[in-house]
Amino acid sequence: MTLEDQIDKERLPRHLAVIMDGNGRWAKQKGLFRSMGHENGTKAVREIVEACAKLPIPYLTLYAFSTENWNRPKLEVDTLMRLLVSSLKKEIKTLTDNNIKLNAIGNLDSLPKKAHRELMDVIERTKSNSRMTLTLALSYGSREEITKTIKEISLKVKNNLISPSNIDESVINNHLYTRDLPDVDLLIRTSGEERISNFLLWQIAYAELYFTETLWPDYRKEHLYEAILNYQNRERRFGKTSEQL
Ligand code: IPE
Ligand code: IPE
Ligand code: MG
Repeated sequence: MTLEDQIDKERLPRHLAVIMDGNGRWAKQKGLFRSMGHENGTKAVREIVEACAKLPIPYLTLYAFSTENWNRPKLEVDTLMRLLVSSLKKEIKTLTDNNIKLNAIGNLDSLPKKAHRELMDVIERTKSNSRMTLTLALSYGSREEITKTIKEISLKVKNNLISPSNIDESVINNHLYTRDLPDVDLLIRTSGEERISNFLLWQIAYAELYFTETLWPDYRKEHLYEAILNYQNRERRFGKTSEQL
């Protein structure tokens, strides 16, 4: 039986989030420029997006660029932004063929104009697709998101649109970039690093975490199936006892 056949289609994660890490190390190992790592990373993106849509996993969120990544050398940031534009142009067909709706979270106004325009165009052109929502986290930082949320809610309190006693978890949820997404069920990070790096801090409260040594440009659907099978062998208790489940 193949790995894919072993997956229980009734118990798929509803929301899978991925920290795509290790592009630079992949390139370095091969004596290449870091940009080659990023370029090869886009192949893994296509394969994983298609595999998730096929299963289907209804929500896939990919961490593509963090608020902290702006601090990398300008040349690398420019390369990443250029790659974003060319991938969006190239992959519109993949999205359409697989009935995938594109979404984006993060401080999108800080993206270069061209990247922002292309992103909005693909979001608009795929808005009626329904098999899977693919969310790109771009210029995304969880602390920035939470700070923005607090500012927006405070303003509503100030203008008497909401009373402090009515602020609950759902009010907070509804002000996050992820307001239209369910909580994360499974979070995968590639490249051997075992940290969250400012990704979806609120949304991963009860996510299962899965770390793998594989570098992102080498990540293929078999790796994804392994992670999902591992996830399906876990008991998610949400604070309860095993007997209560
Ligand atoms: C992930 O790969 C891509 C981005 C953060 C944009 P890295 O570029 O972080 O690769 P490493 O961690 O240096 O190997
Ligand atoms: C996290 O990777 C961000 C993305 C994958 C886009 P980093 O490579 O930037 O994270 P750190 O700096 O190693 O924690
Ligand atoms: Mg990294």
